[in-house]
Amino acid sequence: MTMPASFSIVVLISGSGSNLQAIIDAVNCHKIHGNIRAVISNKSQAYGLQRAQQQAIATHIVEHQQFACREDFDAELQTVIDQYEPDLVVLAGFMRILTPRFVQHYAGKMLNIHPSLLPAYTGIHTHQRALDDGATIHGVSVHFVTAELDGGPLIAQAKVPVHPYDDADTLAKRILIQEHRLYPAVIQWFIEQRLVLINGQVYFDKVALQDAIIYKR
Ligand code: GAR
Repeated sequence: MTMPASFSIVVLISGSGSNLQAIIDAVNCHKIHGNIRAVISNKSQAYGLQRAQQQAIATHIVEHQQFACREDFDAELQTVIDQYEPDLVVLAGFMRILTPRFVQHYAGKMLNIHPSLLPAYTGIHTHQRALDDGATIHGVSVHFVTAELDGGPLIAQAKVPVHPYDDADTLAKRILIQEHRLYPAVIQWFIEQRLVLINGQVYFDKVALQDAIIYKR
């Protein structure tokens, strides 16, 4: 397999886009050897759209409320994404459940970041749930996307301590710092083809991963 001359990335967001910003910054300082061709949001007010526009990156809004069903929304989303012929689709705070057909279309080339040490705390309110459980370690995971919500094959995780004085906001902030380190690193591994998904198994440097890589930098 050869690397495309210009590796094309499409990023999907729903909100602030701080992970998008980390990816933009990593592209700009050549830590990611690819181009963000487009940023797509399902929310028109997502601040991440402004972050993209400041970099002259194409933006699109595909609002899920405009569609009668999930299948129709995903079909339109796919049409918008595919005009950029992406080598990688990056979900960066994209808060939609995706249909199996959509996910299958991007099998092995769609990544998600989730603010918990998966398989713990899939879904939402991960920080509060960790606090409620008295967790002492919490963190973030990056995984390949499958039809199972936050359930695709794990690639890498970063851990943070939970302090006694933490609330969901302080914990979220500590984890976001790690998210902004972890996601660009994983994306670059994918671009370098150090990271591949074959028959549901993640390989890193040609070795089948049994557990997520624990990212410590
Ligand atoms: C991040 O914490 C990301 O891990 C989370 O949404 C936040 C988006 O922040 N994603 C999920 O919960 C996906 N299930 P951002 O818009 O500032 O990047």
